[in-house]
Amino acid sequence: MSAVLVDREAGRPAPPLGMLAELTHRCPLQCPYCANPLELERASAELDTASWQRVLDEAAALGVLQVHFSGGEPTVRRDLPALVGHARELQLYSNLITSGVTLTADSLATLRAAGLDHVQLSFQDAEADGGDRIGGMPGGHARKLVAAKLIREAGLPLTANFVVHRQNLASLPAMLALGEQLGASRIEIAHVQYYGWGLLNRDALMPTADQIARADAVVDEARQKLHGKIVIDYVTPDYYAARPKACMGGWGRQFLNVTPSGRVLPCHAAESLTFLQFPSVRDASLADIWYADPAFARYRGTGWMAEPCRSCDRREIDWGGCRCQAFALTGDAGAADPACALSPHHGMMASAIAAAQSDDFTYRRIGGGTES
Ligand code: SF4
Ligand code: FES
Repeated sequence: MSAVLVDREAGRPAPPLGMLAELTHRCPLQCPYCANPLELERASAELDTASWQRVLDEAAALGVLQVHFSGGEPTVRRDLPALVGHARELQLYSNLITSGVTLTADSLATLRAAGLDHVQLSFQDAEADGGDRIGGMPGGHARKLVAAKLIREAGLPLTANFVVHRQNLASLPAMLALGEQLGASRIEIAHVQYYGWGLLNRDALMPTADQIARADAVVDEARQKLHGKIVIDYVTPDYYAARPKACMGGWGRQFLNVTPSGRVLPCHAAESLTFLQFPSVRDASLADIWYADPAFARYRGTGWMAEPCRSCDRREIDWGGCRCQAFALTGDAGAADPACALSPHHGMMASAIAAAQSDDFTYRRIGGGTES
């Protein structure tokens, strides 16, 4: 194992590199692939400012280097500048993951002054018609274009994030052109992940094989054209892959996620593993949770693996893939991710692709995941 990932002298896992601080699940948008759980947490359950500052203290003490302020839409929290400022005092690198629709020149200046290091701005499409329809917010796309300009004018580095799927992949060349035009230093082309809201809307979002082949070619061409100028992040989606990705860099190995109410998770979708109990920052320190909590230990390393992962030479490369996807598709979170061609369940991927016929979304909203 890498020295970065195992603290050999202490004989325990190395500390996490990054923490996703989900400050709130409130959001003006309603994307049908939202990474938040189907059961959204209400504002009344959110941690207060002092509690988040304590969480940041504990993260820095644990060894976290980067904090990603996320949501929902994190800017709806009025204390965001205070939290960014606290992260800066602790010498944590801070990234704001935002839809951009609430940003103003004043709020960006305040965040910049508080010490914000970077902004990741999400887009639902390259143009307003598609973007507003997919995000469920009329006028949202236009606001994002303004936000991108303000972010660059504030002197902050910008990552433009485009979540892609069957209903917007035709716009991929225009997305790359938009990212370049906006002055992004990084463009993320992220395929929808199919758990939670994404799984609920899988039939409406699943790309076709032709779209994937075309997207691979478009990204290759853009990488050559923009080499040395803009970094483009793109990976083949799970349902078309022969081997899975190392989700989160491995369960409980590099990242932790704190929900609005303070639950601590190894990944943003972990609460979909309904048989596990996850701890809270209200009851334990981040260090106690990272090093000793049973839910974090459950799928850490390779000891939990069954065949085919147990004897596979990729087991310390992809860590068996995604536990949430394995559970969502097979009912066994300890199974190999069905994205792997060696999994006996791999045929489920082709079946899901063949079954994807509807174009209708169930939009993200409180209670929306449980209503028919
Ligand atoms: Fe990864 Fe398991 Fe597939 Fe091997 S068998 S490539 S470890 S998911
Ligand atoms: Fe939970 Fe992949 S999203 S392990």
